[in-house]
Order: sequence, then C-alpha cells, then structure tokens
Amino acid sequence: MYSLSLFVLLAVASRTLAQSQPFGQCGGQGWTGLTTCTDSWVCVFQNAYYSQCLQVAVSTTTAPTSTGTTSTIKTTTSSTGTASTTSATVTGFPASAPTTPPSNLVGKTPALGWNSWNAYGCNINEAKVLAAASQFGSLGLQAAGYQYINIDDCWPLTTRNSTTKQIVPDPTKFPNGISGVATQVHALGLKLGIYSDAGSATCAGFPGSLGFESIDAATFNAWGVDYLKYDNCNIPANWSDSALPQNGDWYNSNSAIRYRQMTAALAAQARPVQFSLCLWGNYEVWDWGARVGHSWRLSGDSTPTWSYITSIISTAVSHISNDTFGAHGDMDMMEIGNGNLTIQEQRTHFAAWIMLKSPILLGTDLSLLNSTQLAIITNKELLAFHQDLTVGPPAAPFTPFASAPVTSPLEYYSGKSAKGTHVFIINTSATAATKTFTFSAVPGLGTSGTFSVHDMWAGVDLAGTYAASASFSVTVAPHDTVAYFINVL
Ligand code: GLA
Repeated sequence: MYSLSLFVLLAVASRTLAQSQPFGQCGGQGWTGLTTCTDSWVCVFQNAYYSQCLQVAVSTTTAPTSTGTTSTIKTTTSSTGTASTTSATVTGFPASAPTTPPSNLVGKTPALGWNSWNAYGCNINEAKVLAAASQFGSLGLQAAGYQYINIDDCWPLTTRNSTTKQIVPDPTKFPNGISGVATQVHALGLKLGIYSDAGSATCAGFPGSLGFESIDAATFNAWGVDYLKYDNCNIPANWSDSALPQNGDWYNSNSAIRYRQMTAALAAQARPVQFSLCLWGNYEVWDWGARVGHSWRLSGDSTPTWSYITSIISTAVSHISNDTFGAHGDMDMMEIGNGNLTIQEQRTHFAAWIMLKSPILLGTDLSLLNSTQLAIITNKELLAFHQDLTVGPPAAPFTPFASAPVTSPLEYYSGKSAKGTHVFIINTSATAATKTFTFSAVPGLGTSGTFSVHDMWAGVDLAGTYAASASFSVTVAPHDTVAYFINVL
C-alpha cells in the first residue's frame, strides 16, 4: 500500500560557480538557495521539504505494510562509512502517543552557545569541540552568558552496537567518547549538546533515533548530554503526513509524534535536556513546538547571506505570537564569522536573533573572530534583552509614525524587558537612510511624558529629551540595525 521511494536527483554537471557544498541543503519546499551540488556530490531528495548534497548510493528495501510493525526502512551507503540497514518499530499514533511536555528545568530563555555544523560540517573531532569550549572562556563568551557547546551531525559510527543497539561515537573523531567530552565541557562550567534525527538516519547518513528513542535518551543521559538537536531526515513512508491530522492539529501528525516520542524518552531520564526541534518550519511546527520542545527551527539551513537574514526575519516575525518563556522560534545557527557579510549585516544578524529571541548558537571557528565581531556577540545590553527573566515574548513590529512606508522585512520593532521599553530599527535598504519614530507610536509609552534615548550598542545615553508627541530620527548605515532603550524621565 505504501510505496517507499527515494529519489536521487542527480545534480546536473553544469559547472556553475555557485553550487551547494557537501551536506548543504539543495532543495525543498520554500528553498530559494542553490539546487546543485559540488562535483561528485548529488542532491538527494529527503522529503518534500528538504534535499541535501550527499555522496551516496541509495537503495530502497521492503516497504512497510501496516502501522505497529517493525519494518526495514532504508539502506544507505555513505561516503562516510559502510552500508547500514536500520529497523524502526512503528509506534505511537495519536491515541497512544506520549503527551509529555518538555522539561521546565531548562530552556526558559533561548539557548546561547556554539554548534559545530556551520563551522566544520562533518569534519569534527574532540579537539575542535574542546577548542570552542576553551575559547568560550578566553574570549569572554562564557562571561557574557554563552553556555552550550553543541556537537552536530557526523559524530558516531554508521552502525549501532549490535548487542546494546546504542549509537557508538566514532573513536577516531572522539577517542574519549561523548562522555569524555562532556566531562571536560562540564569541568569548564559549560553544557554539552548532541545531535540526532527523528528518522532512520541523520541527514548525513548516521544512525537516526526513530524506534530507538528510549535507548538513545538513556545513552545521552549516561554520557551527560544537556541539549539535543533533533533533525528530520530519512523519514519512513509510513510516518509521513499527507493530510491535515486528527482534530486539525498538527500536534497529532505523524511528524509531531516522531518528536513527541523523544520528548517522553528524555523526560524519563534524570538529566533535564534542552530539546531543539529541527523540522525546518514544516508541519506548522510553531503551533505545537512548545508542547514538544524548547525551540523549533523556522526554515531550511542558514547561509551567510543578507537574503537569508532578511527572509528569516520575515518568517520569524510572522510566528512571534507563539514565542515566550520555554518556547522559541529558531532562526538557525549564527553565520557571524562566515562568508562575506558586512559588519553592519552581522550586527543586524545578531540584533534580529536577539530581539526575536531565537536561540543563538555561534557557528564559526571562534579563533577567527575579530574584536569587532566579538564586541557584537558579547554586547551585554542586547544579551540582557534576550535572556531577560521577567518578560518572555520577543519584540514585535510597530508602525513608527502615521503612513510610514511598509518594507520587507519590517524595519521597526519594540519590546519589553525588566528595564522597560526597547526599540530596534533595521535599515533594510542598501544605502544609508534616516529612520524616524514618534515616541507616542511606540507601544506602551503613552501619549504623555518625557523621554530620552539610550544606545544599547554603545551603552550610552544620547543627548536630548523628547515629549511623547516628538519624533526621534537617526541615520542608519546600509543593512545596519540600531538598538535603543527608551528612558522614561
Ligand atoms: C540539516 C540541519 C542542519 C544540520 C545538518 C546536518 O541540514 O538542518 O542544521 O544539522 O542537517 O546534516
């Protein structure tokens, strides 16, 4: 009844300069990035939402016949290892699926940390991970609040332990195992994150956790893992969603249930785990993500481009009503330090993730960051807004004055913190522009009173006092963002 088909889309060997890198995203609904892969890599269809550059030969095997059975779901021969066949027990359709919420002991404010993927892809090892942990100290990142050191895809061997069925860390990359890394990361006062997948294999072809949730959650707990990023590649056909699920609530979809099973498995362990859902903004994840994890990816993979930054801001803004304590739309990992973003664009990148309260996971070799970049990512006032313990919701767009032009993404945002009211203004144009707002137009400031403006980037009060009816103007550099706290005098 089900046809288990996996399409291998051979990348046309057109020698365009711009081709997606190994393991990069190369297709999927809503994807506007590169669609071909570098030489000898192919764009592999994972599902309607995601294709990825892999170096694989893929064969399909027995199709599952019904739910509640054990079925062989996929055989992958990966460039990174030998062939592996994975079985998954199909369980947990709506009536019996776990409804355990994520831990409320962690994840109240959005995660601050580092992740290996944007910096190193599959080319990871213990030394690189521990270098990032040590740089958290030496570069002042830990003092600024950065906490999580997260290992992404490609950390294990391609086959599970045949007896225990546990995932096995690759001893070449991690000679002391993941527990050895965790011990050292914890000794520095930091937390360790790991990566797995709610399918038969990860996006890069390593063992997935579908059907192995309890074993993997217990293993991660024993190793001392504090954070789990859970990806969405290689989904068996009988776990797909073709129609609006039960009660019209995507929480009841097969996709959500794949994640709910891991939430419950994590909850059964002693160690609280921050749970990051990586479904690329599909299955209306913003509507149910907070019932299952602490954050949910809003889109496909980030790129170090201005077009990515602007498009993810618009996406995030359209879903901010779901964001509060313990519930964060994830705009994906940081690209500061990668590519050719201008300093102004990097400032906007950081400010947008701050004001919209996305997890901020640095994604570069930290030793390459210059002092300007370090100053951006350790800015105390912006980080205090992001990590505020009294106000959960992020900043939201406002209309700065009557008949203000509408841009994409929107340029004017205001938000609350324990201190009071903040205003963020993005200049989305490629030329310097004067930006203006009227104080009474800022939500919550009211129509009377006197105000002054504090520059959060510089940490200084600006000259001038203003009546509620007055306007404030500033010239903003191309693609830059200003961040203000409004003093009520
Ligand atoms: C997907 C995720 C990325 C990264 C890779 C690893 O592309 O969206 O963030 O984890 O898988 O293969």
